[in-house]
Amino acid sequence: MSIEQRKILVTSALPYANGSIHLGHLVEYIQTDIWTRFQKLNGHECYYVCADDTHGTPIMLRAEQEGITPEQLIERMQAEHLADFKGFNIKFDNYYSTNSPENRGLSEGIYLNLRDAGLIESRMTEHYYDPEKEMFLPDRYIKGECPRCHAQDQYGDGCEVCGATYTTTDLIEPYSAVSGAKPVRKETEHYFFKLSECIDFLRDWMKTGNRGQSPLPAEAVNKLEEWFEAGLRDWEISRDAPYFGFEIPDAPGKYFYVWLDAPVGYMASFKNLCAREGLDFDTWWKPDSDTELLHFIGKDILSFHALFWPATLHFGGYRTPDKICVHGFLTVNGQKMSKSRGTFITARAYLEHLQPEYLRYYFAAKLNDRVEDIDLNLEDFVARVNSNLIGKYINIASRSAGFISKRFNGKLCASLPDDELELIASLQNAADDIASLYEQRQFSEAVKQVMALADTANEFINDTRPWELAKQDGQDQRLQELCSTNINLFRLLSLYLKPILPELVGQVEAFLNIEPLVWSDSQNPLLDHSINKYKHLAKRIESSQVEAMLEKNKADLAAHAGKTEHSPTRHADKQIAEHPPIADTIAIDDFAKVDLRIAHIVKAEHVDGADKLLQLTLDIGDPDGQTRNVFAGIKSAYSPEQLEGKLTVMVANLAPRKMRFGVSEGMVLAAGPGGQDLWILSPDQGAQPGMKVK
Ligand code: MSP
Ligand code: ZN
Repeated sequence: MSIEQRKILVTSALPYANGSIHLGHLVEYIQTDIWTRFQKLNGHECYYVCADDTHGTPIMLRAEQEGITPEQLIERMQAEHLADFKGFNIKFDNYYSTNSPENRGLSEGIYLNLRDAGLIESRMTEHYYDPEKEMFLPDRYIKGECPRCHAQDQYGDGCEVCGATYTTTDLIEPYSAVSGAKPVRKETEHYFFKLSECIDFLRDWMKTGNRGQSPLPAEAVNKLEEWFEAGLRDWEISRDAPYFGFEIPDAPGKYFYVWLDAPVGYMASFKNLCAREGLDFDTWWKPDSDTELLHFIGKDILSFHALFWPATLHFGGYRTPDKICVHGFLTVNGQKMSKSRGTFITARAYLEHLQPEYLRYYFAAKLNDRVEDIDLNLEDFVARVNSNLIGKYINIASRSAGFISKRFNGKLCASLPDDELELIASLQNAADDIASLYEQRQFSEAVKQVMALADTANEFINDTRPWELAKQDGQDQRLQELCSTNINLFRLLSLYLKPILPELVGQVEAFLNIEPLVWSDSQNPLLDHSINKYKHLAKRIESSQVEAMLEKNKADLAAHAGKTEHSPTRHADKQIAEHPPIADTIAIDDFAKVDLRIAHIVKAEHVDGADKLLQLTLDIGDPDGQTRNVFAGIKSAYSPEQLEGKLTVMVANLAPRKMRFGVSEGMVLAAGPGGQDLWILSPDQGAQPGMKVK
């Protein structure tokens, strides 16, 4: 490894100020934290900065809903985020806010530079407008009826009930999720960044970066090629008032779209650090800077970091990133994190029941430099932590430390026999390989190698059996040598795991009575040194802790349900007051075509990947015992347990429909505006499955 000191600035994506930190986020912050800690252990000048991403419509509306100012909301959320990050030992050199004077100044400056370079243009465009609330609405605030299956309350990008995809303009009876009003299309002037003119620069940057190397992983390069192929559209960077953000300097009433000033927040956080620490901001951000700049992000925000951001920086007068480290998404037990399954686990719920470093270890054991999703399998989590971290690593110390303190007054030998020195050297020699794995973000491979070394250490201990020697007379020196060797092996493993387990290794350093370990310490064994009495370092995870965490998390989610949504309840109230008008008259023959039957809900289950659907198995008295499979969009109002065993009414002669999750053989009847306010029809007592409803 080069011993030249590098100057490295590292960021993680800025979490939105309107949501709590969850385990998915932590994949990113833990990954970045491990990498920066590793750089610092190697003596590099490395800074890790982050901030809360505070601007935009959702934050403005949520504050309003809570009856507080956006500033109050973001202050509270920032305190919450900081506590969560601290809980997981994420060590930022600075954690700031995008709603800061530094960010305003830098964003304005970049905008003006882009404008002067001829890359800003204003145009009239049409957007959805809420006439009641008197504001333009982002698409995600428009809901309506699915044009295909006519399910209510669907978002503009697609139907969660039948899986149809379409655009917001296709929704039947669209309504504003903010006020419930019917949105109108309205023209307004918007500012655009002419990304289409940056394509040559971006192609180049993607291929050769700043130093002849692509700044992106291969999967991301492929994605960019696709985007270039399709052509880059200009980017709309303004929003109309009311908007919580920065007003555009030469355009009163227009605000920077949150994604314009959010990445500038990286610079702003660093600038704030510079002022505090006396660093020179320009050295790090001028166009030909020889410092390194790395951004860690999730795959969902690639376009912002690999297209808009480098173009904004380059044409705005600054240096571009050297590397965009892109990770995949976290799944829990093999499935997308889901609020209804209770696997949308918050940082808080985890910390209340489990040790932070166990998650750091587990993520590290799964992370690599590719854009792959990683799975938190809770059973595997318990097993791996207990068998590897505790069973293989911690045990080495607990099996040798007692003898050193009881029999040798805490003292390690001053010299060791060649065999033992060789064994220690074999661990020392791994330092470079492990370092390069950390450097390349192949943490899973690093962990694998460290665990292989732990196996070697354990084999040695099992072969030499110090506990038997301890019972024999005249073996004191040998016992001391063996235990000193084991402590040295343990010390090296600790150093190699230190980027991942900073807190635990901090305790190890206290026990070993040594200065904080740095990477180069790997080359010097610890001899002729007094260690402290061994205190229990870590304990096994019990499955009951995991269960308690899930319970706590479910309770939290239930308590928050609705509160964090924009305003579904208000919308529901509105609908309850104003029932839809009675439909056109039909003849009795038309009605007779509908075969309604009493159905017994034999089974009700969640559907993987569906947010609104439950899968029902219905008995309608078929003489052959055949049941019907029906997907019903009633999950927001019922849990499967509430439904099983109940009687209800179904349309039995509806043509089977192929849906995303399978074929639905009928339809159950329910009333209500949607969300939690939805009621299935239940016949009175005495009704039997299969009876015809007339
Ligand atoms: N505010 C933007 C980022 C602005 S950066 C200038 C944002 N915030 S976020 O809170 O939604 O996400 C923050 C980071 O966490 C993103 O990199 C995102 O990809 C990551 N993750 C959010 N959920 C995740 C998982 N379930 N799994 C892994 N990473 C996830 O995007
Ligand atoms: Zn539909």
